[in-house]
Amino acid sequence: MDFPIFHLDFIGNRMLIAITAIVHVIINHPMAVGAIPMATLLEWIAHRKKWSALDDLAYKITFVFFVITTSLGAMTGVGIWFTTALVNPDAIGSLIRVFFWAWFSEWVVFFLEVVFIMIYFLTWKPWSGEKKRLHLGVGLFLSIFSWLTMAVITGILGFMMNTGKWVPFSYEWVPESSMFTAFFNPLYLPQLIFRTAVAFLGAGLFFLFLIPFFKKLTAEVRGRAVRPISLWVLAWLPVAIAGAIFYWQRIPVYMQANAPVALATQDFTRWYQTILWFLLGMAAIVPLAALWGVVKPKRLPAAALVIPFIAVATLLGTFERLREFVRKPWVIQGYLYANGLRAQDYPLFKEEGVLSRATWVRHHQVTEENKLEAGGELFMLTCSRCHTVGGVNSVRTRFQKLFPVQKWDEEQLAAYISTMHNIRIFMPPFPGSDAELKALSAWLAANQHYAMRAEGGQTALLPSAPVLK
Ligand code: HEC
Repeated sequence: MDFPIFHLDFIGNRMLIAITAIVHVIINHPMAVGAIPMATLLEWIAHRKKWSALDDLAYKITFVFFVITTSLGAMTGVGIWFTTALVNPDAIGSLIRVFFWAWFSEWVVFFLEVVFIMIYFLTWKPWSGEKKRLHLGVGLFLSIFSWLTMAVITGILGFMMNTGKWVPFSYEWVPESSMFTAFFNPLYLPQLIFRTAVAFLGAGLFFLFLIPFFKKLTAEVRGRAVRPISLWVLAWLPVAIAGAIFYWQRIPVYMQANAPVALATQDFTRWYQTILWFLLGMAAIVPLAALWGVVKPKRLPAAALVIPFIAVATLLGTFERLREFVRKPWVIQGYLYANGLRAQDYPLFKEEGVLSRATWVRHHQVTEENKLEAGGELFMLTCSRCHTVGGVNSVRTRFQKLFPVQKWDEEQLAAYISTMHNIRIFMPPFPGSDAELKALSAWLAANQHYAMRAEGGQTALLPSAPVLK
């Protein structure tokens, strides 16, 4: 509450972060983390067998990844930190306190990764012949650095879901607070195994997907590329599946209970599940296509590669969404709620109110005169990290859907809000005082009324914009 509130009422803050993060992961995992070792492996095979056409193919595919990862990949990676710091500065602030040196080393590792990508790509052709071994060494080095960027971030992501300490050979967690134990949290290892395997597997599929675009390749060269890549995919597939199971088991049980809501959210219930089943079905083609690629590499049809490629890219996006969702109501498990408020401050808020502690609001106390405006500010403070007024996950639509026949009155709203966290466990409890609960309810009721009058609800009674002091 020490920071101004950034609010996008059209797509909502959650969606803003989701789009940036999902695009980033779909690019980063297969095209950076997985593609470099894949390319180095092909380069090594080409070097050993003296297959120069295969070397050339690996080079050209690396060029595609080089362009995408150093532009869109890097932009969305930095974009994640910008959007999350904007939407939930308290969360990023708390994480930096714990992971200060991890944050710093991530920057160094990322910088080195970009430098090595440049060297690897730009020296590919000049360092042929005798210097090829040196170039392969750069590839190996780069593979380690791109994996490390992911390995560092995974520590932070796991901590956000489970802050407990991992006790070796046991499933017991004890709260700890040093960076080291925070980093090696219970979800670290399973998540890292899962992400590594999916990144490597995805890279293989991206390579297979791109090969048909190189029209001039002879069937011979295609076959030489397709077989090792297919083997690679087959090798990582069981690791990815085992990693997923291990990961799921380590997710706290009450968070697992959020998964059905994440997958069948009210916004998309009708078609989202159908699409997911369809995708899972398509993903089943992955091992079949890879097996085909091993047995008859020259004959693997191009169409068979498109489907696994799309399936894995979309499942990766779904997995990121799932991870973000099941963590609710927390942004840092047990410590900070997604609304940016600390659990330990709740008793104080209940007594003295949230407004009295908020820096960037106009009203610090609820009075009869300011009730509606204060209510709007309370919406901003306690609901707007996840809800909009009239956009995606609109709070007005949510209430209307719950009780479609009639308008909610103030008392009904207050009764719902004060217990909503029991029914919908992904929402944090309302933190404010009784007067604040009434103010928020009054604002929600007025907002609803106004929306009804405006027919269609395009012109919402927006909360007063927080004033900068
Ligand atoms: C941590 C994020 C988060 C916060 C904070 C939050 N909500 Fe929600 N809320 C959600 C999500 C996500 C859904 C919809 C889930 C779905 O798609 O089914 C939801 C659903 C709802 C619903 C519909 C519930 C149902 O049973 O259908 C209402 C009403 C609601 N929220 C009101 C509020 C109010 C009022 C506040 C502020 C006091 C608030 N929420 C704060 C995430 C949040």
